[in-house]
Amino acid sequence: MSTNGQPVTRQDPPRALSTVVNPALRVLLRSPLAGRLPGGLILVRFSGRKTGREYELPVGIHDVDGRPAVLSNSRWRENFRGGAPVSIVQGGVIRTGTGTLVDEPDAAAAIALGLLREYGPEQAPRMGLRIEPGHEPTVEDLRRLDPMPAFILLDLDDGEELPAAAEGGTALYRSVELIERAQVLDRPAAALRAAVAPLIPHGPVKDTLSGTWLGHPLHPVTVHVPIGAWLSALVLDLIGGRRSRRAADELVAVGILGTLPSAAAGASDWLDTTGAERRVGLVHATGNVLALLLQVWSLVARWRGRRGRGVLLSAAANGLVGFTGYLGGHLAYNQGVGVDTTIFDAGPTDWTGVADLADLPEGRPVAVPAGQISLLLLRDGDRLHAMDNRCTHRGGPLADGEVVDGCIVCPWHQSAFRLEDGTIAEGPAVRPQPSYETRVTGTRVEVRRAEPKGLRRNAV
Ligand code: FES
Repeated sequence: MSTNGQPVTRQDPPRALSTVVNPALRVLLRSPLAGRLPGGLILVRFSGRKTGREYELPVGIHDVDGRPAVLSNSRWRENFRGGAPVSIVQGGVIRTGTGTLVDEPDAAAAIALGLLREYGPEQAPRMGLRIEPGHEPTVEDLRRLDPMPAFILLDLDDGEELPAAAEGGTALYRSVELIERAQVLDRPAAALRAAVAPLIPHGPVKDTLSGTWLGHPLHPVTVHVPIGAWLSALVLDLIGGRRSRRAADELVAVGILGTLPSAAAGASDWLDTTGAERRVGLVHATGNVLALLLQVWSLVARWRGRRGRGVLLSAAANGLVGFTGYLGGHLAYNQGVGVDTTIFDAGPTDWTGVADLADLPEGRPVAVPAGQISLLLLRDGDRLHAMDNRCTHRGGPLADGEVVDGCIVCPWHQSAFRLEDGTIAEGPAVRPQPSYETRVTGTRVEVRRAEPKGLRRNAV
């Protein structure tokens, strides 16, 4: 390593190493194992001032005259200029407070020098520094560094310290949250999307794969084939004896073939996701592709008479599918992918005034509040149409869409709903739009839920 003739130099870890190690550290620092990690490591959490995004970084923590402090050689420290809210996870507990940036050269160099003397030169890498053997570092050495180390002094609440697990469930769940926030996945997700989208064009192909014809997303139905076949094969492998070997091998092959419709249907759903859903979906799909490759490898091993290897590979694939299944459940139950987004919308079931007739332009949809929901109203000659303004597919604002051939076309993924009754003229939506009866009393437009679902008392 070049020292440029300087006795004290920066020794930052390679960026690629951080990219690999940091996600693992985040999981570990939130897990029950956190208390067993070296005490100098913490997670620091803060909001980006410009982006508004939440950040979470594994960093070293130092003691500066009895105050906890974080050293930063990177630009994220600017978020603490003048002070900013911060929370840290340390040893399995969470503390909140304020972080204040100290980067005035004399003050920062004095803090760094004090820590270097305390740790000794061999521990300088803890601070991202390297000291030439035999050299006694000085303030001037530190001031010459570019950029100089700066510190974020932390004032943390003494109050209640919460176990990390209380923040949001198990280590597994927290690891999924990590995936949700992993912006590093956005670029490969965008590249994959660009490659897959032309294969599933809007129209009959998309509607078939989405499940528009079924009234339910198709993907959850299709996954039963590979999961069921592979799990059954493993059961036969483990307890079926020699007589079941052929059946087990055939089940592995059936599962492999079954991934084709399952992947196609899943890809169709994934194309309509964004942000955290798209990231989780990408990992879900990647894990499933790996499981598929393991099963193909297993089948080849079985055909070549390497039964033990084949069974082990199948077992590994089943374990992986268990994890991707967890992600699939997260996508559906926690992120609402594939769920009718209006299911908990409780619009009026008794006649309720929502607008003045004079405020409704002819032929142009408008959104009006109706209790706790937003309604789309459309005046069409002497007729009035009303439906939930939130698209059942992924929640697009229908009133921003266009009216085409008696349908409202969602601006997000172009599902078309008949204005007459909310039924689907074209997907990818799989559930009709809740529609409302209308009448005019005096000058007021009144609505009430028209379709049978309105009879149900929805949770709100
Ligand atoms: S949100 Fe996807 S079609 Fe409306």
